[in-house]
Amino acid sequence: MEKMEGQPGFAVEIFKKPLVEAVLKQVALVSGFLWERGWAERNAGNLSVNVTGCFDAKELALFSACPRFDLSPGYPGLSQSVFLVSGTGTRMRDMAADPAGHLCFVCISSQGTSFHLTGFEKDGEPVMPTSELLTHLAVQELLIRQGSTEKAVLHAHVTELIALTQLARFNSEAAINNLLWGMHPETLLFVPGGVGFVPYSLAGTGQIARLTLQSIENHKAVLWEKHGCLAVGNTLHEAFDILDILAKSARIYFLCRSAGTEPEGLTAAQLEEIRNSQLGEPGK
Ligand code: 13P
Ligand code: ZN
Repeated sequence: MEKMEGQPGFAVEIFKKPLVEAVLKQVALVSGFLWERGWAERNAGNLSVNVTGCFDAKELALFSACPRFDLSPGYPGLSQSVFLVSGTGTRMRDMAADPAGHLCFVCISSQGTSFHLTGFEKDGEPVMPTSELLTHLAVQELLIRQGSTEKAVLHAHVTELIALTQLARFNSEAAINNLLWGMHPETLLFVPGGVGFVPYSLAGTGQIARLTLQSIENHKAVLWEKHGCLAVGNTLHEAFDILDILAKSARIYFLCRSAGTEPEGLTAAQLEEIRNSQLGEPGK
């Protein structure tokens, strides 16, 4: 692993760019929300934002002087793209207070088979990207391939959604979406494409990245069985909104169950009426 020597000036400069500062503001707010909701114990959760548009060609070329790390598999669709990525081991509550100190810039090489890294050091060591980098890059590559305007990918340990995936009867896309849509009208309005379901896989592996990629293709969010969830959005706020709405549905379900009753759920006719109302935003 190469050290980040000789790069601090560059990192200081790019963290100060107004467009980057606007993203830092989002990171601070959203990571604070995750901590307050109890969805980010210890270092739980991570995020990436495509910030390529914050740089001109001359600035992009400067990343090639930063330490380089191999990437396997390669991501040719991310050639010369730059991402702000949360540091592995980072606490969301610390990132809320000091986003730049807990993020790093990942600039993908022209072949897509390595990345250049820059950022600040933490405890004398460079901030290294999240252990879920493969998933973030796979999803970011998909968004570009789809021509999507979405630039933010957010993973969190949303307690209510993890609890739902602990119930075997909801361990399919059809069952979990029926339940989530049925608990509250906003869920169908704002998550009309529903969620994908990723069967349990070890965190930080190529397998969880591959399964997430397959599952998120037609959705804005996926649930990771017994682990957490991941959402995409134009901004981190949008990705957070999706998780928040889904969590509300799950909470309503558990509140009814705690009251000793099985919730009725919205009827098929009520769901159809919502589908036809076009009040929400277009889904994927
Ligand atoms: P990182 O600290 O490496 O981002 O891991 C947190 C996590 O939630 C893994 O799934
Ligand atoms: Zn996780």
